[in-house]
Amino acid sequence: MAAFPDVADPALYRSDSWRPLFERMRREDPVHYHPDSLYGPYWSVSRYADIMTVELDHGAYSSASELGGIQIADQPKGQELPNFIRMDPPRHTAQRKTVTPIVAPSNLANMEGLIRERTAAVLAGLPRGEVFDWVDRVSTELTATMLATLFDFPQADRRKLTYWSDVAIANTAAEDAVVKSEAERMAELRQMADIMAVLWKERAAQPPTFDLISMMAHGEATRAMPLNEFIGNLGLLIVGGNDTTRNSMTGGLIAALLNPGEIDKVRADRSLLPSLVSEIIRWQTPVIHMRRTATRDIELAGKAIGKGDKVVMWYVSGNRDEAAIDDSEAFRVGRPRARHHLSFGAGIHRCVGDRLAELQLKILWEEMLARDLRIEIVGPPVRLYSNFIRGIRSLPVTLQ
Ligand code: HEM
Repeated sequence: MAAFPDVADPALYRSDSWRPLFERMRREDPVHYHPDSLYGPYWSVSRYADIMTVELDHGAYSSASELGGIQIADQPKGQELPNFIRMDPPRHTAQRKTVTPIVAPSNLANMEGLIRERTAAVLAGLPRGEVFDWVDRVSTELTATMLATLFDFPQADRRKLTYWSDVAIANTAAEDAVVKSEAERMAELRQMADIMAVLWKERAAQPPTFDLISMMAHGEATRAMPLNEFIGNLGLLIVGGNDTTRNSMTGGLIAALLNPGEIDKVRADRSLLPSLVSEIIRWQTPVIHMRRTATRDIELAGKAIGKGDKVVMWYVSGNRDEAAIDDSEAFRVGRPRARHHLSFGAGIHRCVGDRLAELQLKILWEEMLARDLRIEIVGPPVRLYSNFIRGIRSLPVTLQ
């Protein structure tokens, strides 16, 4: 058996050339040990069912910041930014509970009109007959506006939130990275913390309001966080609400234009919209991987994982596992179990914002179809150099 390449190489995701490597891994060695990589030794978990096993056993597979956190790259020593995605129970449970009301079904219903209004305005403002960047004009604009609403952050400064999200996930080795070193990243995030701290103090002094800053400033589990945890949790909510949805908005357009027959199905039957949205999120898989650390020796699919080993769940691979998803490489609207995918993870850390992201995408597509927008992609997408976020930095398009 030829050696497996290091599937953590960010260049694979920049060039979008990862599919055959995982196809082979799922077939030949689905839980594979890489003794050596840019990030040290690690295990790759490539099949849907094995990823679910790891997700659901948070006792054996920890997310804790102290053990390295949730990305294949360990956090730089002394600069760890704990937050609730990088915690195990009971602290994870308490902090997660503080912010979940913002995405409760009743609040989503309240926000629907606002999201629709803004989406309509963004689409109405698009230029006709000239090349523009879909990422900047639509995906980033809509997600930044939403995020500013969730934080009750000044709308005029909403692109700061996008910038901080880019800073938080940047691979500093990329030639076009927004920050080039860990020190630069920390400096930018400290500035974010300074700006947020002003809003935090104001809201802590006022009666609670329905936004993420006020919720954390008043929440028992979050109101007295140390600075690094404050930065960590803000970063989590900003990246969570921004990068993933934004890339689904762009990836969805690419998928739709490559598969026009699938969009025709939705044009003919709007009840297929939720299925379209789930298929976009599966097909794009905006989060490439999550990492855990084994807290004890444990067996996984016949392999002996050792205490302290890094275990990487490749969602991009699980979402294309033929054993779990029929005709998994195809973009197909109307799958019998459209929400059966791994893009939102599973278990206690399953995405908090899944229903909000689905709502934003549903409204975007409803409004695009209502206007019968005819969009053409006129150049290749520029993809992010990252093994964590499957991002699209720009996509030139025209609108007829
Ligand atoms: C298509 C859009 C989105 C995708 C694909 C996505 C993906 C994910 C994934 C893979 C996880 C980790 C799951 C796990 O470890 O099992 C996660 C967690 C999380 N997401 Fe999302 N997300 C999206 C949208 C959002 C939005 C809109 C928000 C915020 C409003 C958000 C906030 C969070 C938070 C706070 C967590 C941490 C949950 C925890 O640790 O308990 N996400 N997301």
